[in-house]
Amino acid sequence: MGLVNTIGNTLQQGLGKISNRLVPGLSEDNTVNVGHGIILYMESVNVSFDGFKAINDLTLYIDDGELRCIIGPNGAGKTTMMDVITGKTRPDSGSVYFGQTMDLTRMEEHEIASAGIGRKFQKPTVFPYHSVFENLELAMHADKRVWHSLRARLSGEQNDAIEETLKLVGLLEQSNVSAGLLSHGQKQWLEIGMLLMQRPRLLLIDEPVAGMTHQEMEQTAELLQHLAGKQSVVVVEHDMDFVRSIARKVTVLHEGHVLAEGSMDEVTNNQRVVEVYLGE
Ligand SMILES: Nc1ncnc2c1ncn2[C@@H]1O[C@H](COP(=O)(O)OP(=O)(O)OP(=O)(O)O)[C@@H](O)[C@H]1O
Ligand SMILES: [Mg+2]
Repeated sequence: MGLVNTIGNTLQQGLGKISNRLVPGLSEDNTVNVGHGIILYMESVNVSFDGFKAINDLTLYIDDGELRCIIGPNGAGKTTMMDVITGKTRPDSGSVYFGQTMDLTRMEEHEIASAGIGRKFQKPTVFPYHSVFENLELAMHADKRVWHSLRARLSGEQNDAIEETLKLVGLLEQSNVSAGLLSHGQKQWLEIGMLLMQRPRLLLIDEPVAGMTHQEMEQTAELLQHLAGKQSVVVVEHDMDFVRSIARKVTVLHEGHVLAEGSMDEVTNNQRVVEVYLGE
């Protein structure tokens, strides 16, 4: 198996195998049902690891198009929550719905990805020996099962889609640069761009600015704010200055449960939140 195939397979595993059949719960035109303006419902969710309750009666709703920040001390269950949404971890009980009809607890990870939930892990995973443009191209092809080779001709529309994403993530000038040569921050943006090529409805992003320079953080804030509205974005982040710079609604998790929810000012003035953070 050649390198090209290997990369194709890796991409398919990483970004989710796309099947042509309808995903259960999707409407006929393959869109998620957000009739009530809510894109994600988590109700009374519980997850235990060997008797330890990592997620404890968690109820959370994400509005369609919103940018939500999730904060909370180490071990609060933030990453586990994302694992539940993406099907990596099955809850012991509770319900998790994408739109009104798609039961995520009954779907495989790749089905959830193809239904429109993209996830960005903390460590960027780009293809270092391919150019920035090619990385986006690979990500796009993984979506359509037409992954032949990098030399396959792109349609004008596909080319436009890649250029649009390059502009959006601020990497137009780096289009021909090998991804491995990008700065840490640029790699993070490239990976967000790769996720966008899949046209997700909901993006989950875990600790995007860890290790970024101040300027990169500011650009990331701009990018995430720009993405919201077109898609829903859930950001887990420890950096409070960053959260303050983008936050509209903030959810504070503690011991697997929602401790507080509201504007950044509301949650940082909440006595219980203050106690939890001081007690860290
Ligand atoms: N697969 C697992 N097996 C056992 N325990 C786990 C597993 N995954 C997570 N945990 C535990 O569940 C709790 C919640 O972990 P989680 O990673 O969700 O926290 P977090 O809020 O993301 O923390 P951080 O801010 O440090 O990333 C922790 O106590 C963790 O040790
Ligand atoms: Mg975590």
